[in-house]
Parts: sequence; structure tokens; C-alpha cells
Amino acid sequence: MSASARELIIDLDAISANTAVLAECSASAALMAVVKADAYGHGLVPAARAAKAGGAAWLGVALLDEALALRAAGVDGPVLAWLLGVDEPWVDALEADIDLSVSALWTLDAIAAAARAAGRTARVHLKVDSGLGRSGAPQGDWPELVGAARRAELEGTLRVVGVWSHFAYADAPGHPTIDRQLAAFSEAIEIAEGAGLKPDVRHLANSAATLTRPDTHFDLTRPGLAVYGLSPLPQASPESLGLVPAMALQARLSLVKRVPAGHGVSYMHRYVTDRETTLGLVPLGYADGVPREATNVGPVLAGGRRQTIAGVVCMDQFVLDLGDDPASEGDVVAVFGSGASGEPTAQDWADAVGTISYEIVTRMGPRVRRRYVGGQP
Ligand SMILES: Cc1ncc(COP(=O)(O)O)c(C=O)c1O
Repeated sequence: MSASARELIIDLDAISANTAVLAECSASAALMAVVKADAYGHGLVPAARAAKAGGAAWLGVALLDEALALRAAGVDGPVLAWLLGVDEPWVDALEADIDLSVSALWTLDAIAAAARAAGRTARVHLKVDSGLGRSGAPQGDWPELVGAARRAELEGTLRVVGVWSHFAYADAPGHPTIDRQLAAFSEAIEIAEGAGLKPDVRHLANSAATLTRPDTHFDLTRPGLAVYGLSPLPQASPESLGLVPAMALQARLSLVKRVPAGHGVSYMHRYVTDRETTLGLVPLGYADGVPREATNVGPVLAGGRRQTIAGVVCMDQFVLDLGDDPASEGDVVAVFGSGASGEPTAQDWADAVGTISYEIVTRMGPRVRRRYVGGQP
């Protein structure tokens, strides 16, 4: 490890290899790597490049800003942005050749107006709410949206490149909503095609569906979490899916000291030593993304042994009770990683604090230095 007090090590080769596994799983469908939220905390541009090297023909982001940041960094190829507000820089989006998701007539109108102003043909993906109940046009509004999109196509202001939707419960294989959403999506496609639309790509499958439901792949799969080597399926380890977690969080002990039995540790003394012992101070706190809920439960690997955080996680630091283990300032503490060296995984952290691995990796703060390993020069 380098001399950094705290760092996230991102394995770009793992991202490429995971993408290749998912691309193979996607068989005849192309793959869109989802790189929103700074590529789930892994670094938007390096992760996007690594995913493309692994076979992602498409990239997907939530925000237009994220899509524009990819273009500003020179990342080319199709990029879809799907969480659009009323005051987006539509013309910038069209000039940057960003595909835009449309769930409502107002978005279609805004994009068509920008396309006329810019003298361009916009590329849009119409989104239907097949049952998630989040974004997407309600099924009752779908024929009207499709009809308006077809008229705009005939006018030359836009082209419907994609028709898409998103699952509510793909991480629970066999859940009845999966088949219901698949049927609703298939019906929405029929309606779109009946109105004269000929989308290049129909897409529905997130990581879980990419891995477990080939019948939902259509023309394009849309995995996020699995690209980063984490499992979306509670019953399956990354390893069993051929995936390798790409993010590791490490820090170096910044203080080691002996204290007597009965010594309160950290705010509110939520941990009290039961013997004379060694405390180790880890310079990572909730400002860095270590959940405060990890108080007295967060697992780490220190000195070759699994330890549990002692006491309250503070803004900048937490404490370990190292017993009589030899320890010195500068020793490496592995907070989470692939698990290959015995360290906890992001999934272990999610289980310990009652959340999902998505949240563990995306919440890492800006003070933690990012170090990229692997990848193409
Ligand atoms: C619309 C959409 N598609 C695909 C994904 C990727 O999902 P996952 O990370 O579960 O593969 C997400 C992530 O939340 C999403 O919001």
C-alpha cells in the first residue's frame, strides 16, 4: 500500500473483467454499463473507460451533468441520461450527442423545441412505467406519448432510438412482479411499434435480470452494480457469479496506545474496555462514508485478524480495540475489499449496518484518495 492515510483502491481490470462476464451473459444483446453516481463511487471516467474496454457498447447515467462530464473527458459512443429536470441545457445535450430519456409529454416538447433551435435530430428513449412506480410514463399515458413521439419523428426533430423500463424486484428471482413487468413492457413495445416507431434498442434488465433472466435482455442489458463486482442477489456471492469486487477501502493506524480496563472509548462511551488493551485509531469517519451505524458493529481486518469497530464512529475517525496484538502507527487496516485476503466485503458492511452494498460503495467521501490500479494506459 502507498503512504496514504486513507485510500480507495479501484481495480480497473476488475471492472473490465466483470463487464466482459456480463457481456457474455447478455449473449446477443449489447451492454450498457451504468456509471451514474460517479460510477457507483468508482470514478466516472476511469470506470467508464474500463467498462468500455470490457465490452460495454453503451453507457448509462442518471444526470445530464454526468453525461456531459463523460463527453468533456473525451468518452465517445452512445450515452443515455435518464433523470432529467425542467431546466436542463437541452441544446448542450443535443450538441454532445447524448441520448435522452422521455417519460412525459413535457420532456418530449422541450427536447423537440431544442432540436428545432439547434437544427439537430434528438435521440430519445421512451420510458414506460411497467410497474416500478417511479419514472416512466404510466401505461395509460403510453399511447399518447408514443403518438406524440411518432409525430415528432415525422417532423424530423427526434428519433426514438430506444424503448425502456426498469424492474422493481429483479433481485428477488421468482418474484411475481418480474413476469408482470415483462408482460407490461412487451405490450408497451407492441403499442410503440404499432404506432410506427422502430426503436434500435429495447432495454429492461439491470444487473440481477442480466444474470438471472435472459428472457428480459431484449436488445440491450443495463447492469450497474455487477459491473463493479458486487452481487445484486442476496444468495449469490460475487465469486459464484464470476465477478470480482473492484473497490477496496484501506487506512493506516494514526495512533496506537495502551489503556486500562474500564476505559470509555469514543463519544458517549458506547464501548468500554473490559481489560487492559491496545486501542488503534483509524482516520476514517462518517465524513468519509463510514456509516455512523457501524458503531460497535463495523468489521475490519487489522493485523491479520477480523476486528469490530469499538464505540461510536465519529466524523473523521473510529477506534479499534486490538487487545494484545502487536500494532504500530502506520499499520494498514483493510475496511473492505474483495475479501480475497480475509478482509470484509462491501456486502459484509451492508449486512452489518442494515443497508445494501450499493450504498456502501457510493457513499465514499471526497477526502478519501482514489488510487487506480490496472486499466489501459
Ligand atoms: C434506470 C436504471 N437502470 C439500471 C440500473 C442498474 O441497476 P443495478 O445496479 O441493480 O444493475 C439502475 C440503478 O439503479 C437504474 O436506475
